[in-house]
Amino acid sequence: MDGTIHAETITIKDLLQSGKIGNSYQVSGWVRNKRGSKSVTFIILNDGSCFRDLQVIVEFTSDQESLLRDIHTGTALTISGILMESQGGGQSVELLSKTVSLIGKINPEAYPIQPKEHTLDFLRKNAHLRFRTKTFSSIFRIRHGLSFAIHKFFNERNFYYINTPIITSADAEGAGEMFKVTTFDLKNIPMVNGEVDYTKDFFSKSSNLTVSGQLEAELAAMGLSKVYTFGPTFRAENSNTSRHLSEFWMIEPEVAFSTLRDNIKLATDLLKYSCQYILEEYSEDVKFLSDRKEKEEQSLKKEDRSPNNLLTSIKNIIDLEFIVLSYTEAFDILRNSKKNKKNKFEFPINDWGVDFQSEHERFLVEKKFDGKPIIITDYPKTIKAFYMRLNDDQKTVRAMDILFPGIGEIIGGSQREERLEILERRMEEMLIPKEELWWYLDTRRFGSVPHSGFGLGFERLVQFVTGMNNIRDVIPFPRFPSHIEF
Ligand code: 4AD
Ligand code: MG
Repeated sequence: MDGTIHAETITIKDLLQSGKIGNSYQVSGWVRNKRGSKSVTFIILNDGSCFRDLQVIVEFTSDQESLLRDIHTGTALTISGILMESQGGGQSVELLSKTVSLIGKINPEAYPIQPKEHTLDFLRKNAHLRFRTKTFSSIFRIRHGLSFAIHKFFNERNFYYINTPIITSADAEGAGEMFKVTTFDLKNIPMVNGEVDYTKDFFSKSSNLTVSGQLEAELAAMGLSKVYTFGPTFRAENSNTSRHLSEFWMIEPEVAFSTLRDNIKLATDLLKYSCQYILEEYSEDVKFLSDRKEKEEQSLKKEDRSPNNLLTSIKNIIDLEFIVLSYTEAFDILRNSKKNKKNKFEFPINDWGVDFQSEHERFLVEKKFDGKPIIITDYPKTIKAFYMRLNDDQKTVRAMDILFPGIGEIIGGSQREERLEILERRMEEMLIPKEELWWYLDTRRFGSVPHSGFGLGFERLVQFVTGMNNIRDVIPFPRFPSHIEF
């Protein structure tokens, strides 16, 4: 109890994995809980390195009395001691302390995170402290694991990681409303002929935060063949849903000499690979979150509960074949469904060409295909972006959306239009200014090749793998309309 730190600190993860009984170790972390009897105090310590806590035994001596009184849930400690086989149940080893150093004190009355169940909403309001809870430390370990697995997947397949710009002048992609970037004094914006004079702005052009790195990734693929981006993207839509963020992360591979079929294969492999990786490397976190979800759903009506527990739904992604069907096939299923005939959809399905709403996607995934992931291809050109490759029917494009049970759209992608003339015609039809995208069109002028790519919404994948209902719980500091705290 002299307060000095003697040895190098080991993480609780390493200690539990490879610590040797009888050896001395030093750990640092935050107290989850403290309980004790007259002669001995048990401290449950966690450092976030893994799901499990370390139980520390402090044998009582009179000079420790005041120190022990200062230890509460949330106190930061460095403890050194000897690793012992555990006497009690619940853990295999424990640390018998020699020295306990108080690193960070806490006022227990003021500290919001207590060793009891907090609502997710309460923890969202305390997002700066929620990393200390079991639920959120599990979520963010898995988020890291998924990100690592994705990089590993692409690296093993000879893809190069490309960083596309965050600030862009291209606002033509049409993926969503954009946030403006400017250094103008908002009280005194330069105008010319009633319009904002962007020539006086920082970049001498109207600038925005990017909605997607795709167009630039396509340029890189036309030299490096296989590339991917993994970066933040921004959408200024006023969507206050459990599936939308204003700032989210997207993975966008782009592959030269690749068709829609190759693209589907790549996307399927990526999703299966990353789910598999999490089951192998983060099984304790998944198990905990699976139990958490089951408990949470007990208050729901039977028909509103998930058909499978979290563990099973992740395994299903790995084991089940994804259903592939065209928009037209999906449209026919929906139009002829009892639900549609009984007028039970909020948006009835009558005319070919309508965009599917989430109620339709859920019907297909959950009712028609029993919770299997589905891939819808060849959408009407009128509801998809200008860059998707036009099919010979002149009506549909080589698009694909992947829909997951409980999530809806997790991936959107396509084979790209590589034929200059057709691309230019599509841009004219869709009123996309060709001069602005001269560099994009150049790739179709110089050695153009068939190529494909997609965008995987990273938070939607994290949502799926952690079983969290609200996308705001799977990104450390969510941004959504009227919310930019932290
Ligand atoms: O379907 P989206 O808009 O596609 C694109 O942006 C293409 N440029 C991608 C490409 O082909 N390279 O977005 C792709 C995915 C969606 O399927 C969804 O998972 C996610 O990004 N996404 C969002 N995630 C969270 N919040 C939002 N507001 C999102 N909008 C899209
Ligand atoms: Mg989409």
